[in-house]
Amino acid sequence: MPLITTIEDLRRLAQKRVPRMFYDYADSGSWTESTYRANESDFARIQFRQRVARNIDERSIRASMIGQDMAMPVALAPTGLAGMQHADGEILTARAAAAFGVRYTLSTMSICSLEDIAAHVGQPFWFQLYVMRDRVFMQQLIERAKAAGVDALVLTLDLQILGQRHKDLINGLSAPPKLTVPNILNMLTKPRWVAGMLGTKRHGFGNIVGHVKGVADITSLSSWIGQQFDPRLSWDDVEWIKQCWGGKLIIKGILDVEDARLAANCGADALVVSNHGGRQLDGAPSSISQLAAIAEAVGEQIEVWLDGGIRSGQDVLKAMALGAKGTMIGRAHLYGLGALGEVGVTKALDIIARELDVSMALCGYNDIRDVNREILLPGSFPTGVC
Ligand SMILES: Cc1cc2nc3c(=O)[nH]c(=O)nc-3n(C[C@H](O)[C@H](O)[C@H](O)COP(=O)(O)O)c2cc1C
Repeated sequence: MPLITTIEDLRRLAQKRVPRMFYDYADSGSWTESTYRANESDFARIQFRQRVARNIDERSIRASMIGQDMAMPVALAPTGLAGMQHADGEILTARAAAAFGVRYTLSTMSICSLEDIAAHVGQPFWFQLYVMRDRVFMQQLIERAKAAGVDALVLTLDLQILGQRHKDLINGLSAPPKLTVPNILNMLTKPRWVAGMLGTKRHGFGNIVGHVKGVADITSLSSWIGQQFDPRLSWDDVEWIKQCWGGKLIIKGILDVEDARLAANCGADALVVSNHGGRQLDGAPSSISQLAAIAEAVGEQIEVWLDGGIRSGQDVLKAMALGAKGTMIGRAHLYGLGALGEVGVTKALDIIARELDVSMALCGYNDIRDVNREILLPGSFPTGVC
């Protein structure tokens, strides 16, 4: 196996090992993918100020997100169907996160269920919720999350209807995959993946299968979303969910200052500046380009986090410099999972932590909590509203 030193190395290995349908599901954005690409390329434009002769002997990248201590200011973003990137993917990822000292977020649309994670991980985790038409089912999900030891709810607001991802249509994305001739031929080239899947019984949507009546097709993500997700979602629903849940609440999918103010006013503990990894409104700005304005507008009221396009510890550092109190990584950890399972997720976290530590030091700082815009080259980064 080649030496793995970057997230890009993990991506390439995942591309080799994961069936095309599921690799494409991860490595794609909606429509022209312009927002997906901008999430990464806008990070690349931001430059650091190199500082020298500052004592950088004793460093710390530990941070707190919603009052929870983290090995670094990074949590694992919710990603649907992670158990199709690798057998038992959510369990493996949650274990890697717990061992590393960062939080894992289980998606509503996961393969392994809330109960699976509780039974196999034994550490608290977060749960991501979509707003569905069936409020009874939502209440049940919230109660199941409480029973599973979930200690923060991540409420996603930017996917009530699905932004079209062409590759998923072409590939006929489903879980489990349909046994068509092209799928079988492709899976035959991924023997490790097939062996893993033959060794687990977790092949469907674990939080849903067996828990919801009267839904015709729950193998297809797009048809489930079309039938079940509630396009009438409003801030009143957010308030209702907050009451039902009663614990720490994180609002995910904020890209606009006005929405950020509404999220802050609703009393949530954190908001995530996010465009769903460029998978929803193509043509929307990158997450990093909106961060400074949002942090300036509401950063005193609510913790502002960021996801979208983070592929290195340097990206995490740039987000922290522009006002984020924490970040989430989606594809960076999924590529690790697809490439090498639990070891790959640990590898991804390790790569990001080392890059974050060394880059912070070379900017002349010892503690990630002290980092601010001073570490960035003026003119190279998007500023806020003032
Ligand atoms: C394959 C995949 C599946 C995703 N599924 C979900 C999901 O179920 N719920 C959710 O809130 N966000 C989901 N997201 C969005 C991520 O939580 C996160 O916002 C995004 O991945 C961040 O961008 P990045 O991948 O560039 O880090 C998904 C993203 C990917 C790539």
